[in-house]
Amino acid sequence: PSPDAWRRVDSYLTELLVGADPVLDAAVREQHAAGMPAIEVAPVNGKFLNLLARISGARRVLEIGTLAGYSTIWLARAIPDDGHVITIEAEPANARVARTNLDRAGVGAKVDIRVGRAADVLPTLEGDSPFDLVFIDADKESNTVYLDWAARLGRAGTVVVVDNIGRGGEIADPATTNSQVIGTQRGLEMLARDPRFDATALQTLDRKGYDGVAVAVVI
Ligand code: DHB
Ligand code: MG
Repeated sequence: PSPDAWRRVDSYLTELLVGADPVLDAAVREQHAAGMPAIEVAPVNGKFLNLLARISGARRVLEIGTLAGYSTIWLARAIPDDGHVITIEAEPANARVARTNLDRAGVGAKVDIRVGRAADVLPTLEGDSPFDLVFIDADKESNTVYLDWAARLGRAGTVVVVDNIGRGGEIADPATTNSQVIGTQRGLEMLARDPRFDATALQTLDRKGYDGVAVAVVI
């Protein structure tokens, strides 16, 4: 294949299977206009989250790391009107952009944005649990803390998804000094060894580049 084949494949798959989505486009525009980084999940990845939520029949979803709400919209669209998404965002300014995006997308009533450090917010969520699906996409250094809470706030069968487990291949470097990669490695090791999880992970190549996603079930 030519060196840019994967970019063309990403466009092909996105156009074919995701399609035009003005609401999501607007959310990303607002995100960029607010100066937030272009690190939202790729469209094919957002739809993957949406499908996982639907396949698992999720009604209660927990997201760690809202950013401007792009993946939150995908998740909220997947759950019934009497379900809810609780999404945790550390930056109040990001949360304000996300609120506007979610309301414009017509899913605002299903989404509760909790502003604060996830390590502080997670211990307050017992009353909203058990969650049926947990999406972890925040500071990678804290992935083991977030996985521990995913298990505690989940139930047998809860789906857990961890974003960014490939990091351009750096994930397989045992000598890496990148704290985000080290945090991601610790998280994957936890998924492998902690008896509360059974997991796998897939490498991904999409418009965001070479990365990956881990999927686990709580035992
Ligand atoms: C980064 C974080 C993400 O969640 C992502 O999907 C891509 C990049 C980052 O912090 O660099
Ligand atoms: Mg991510």
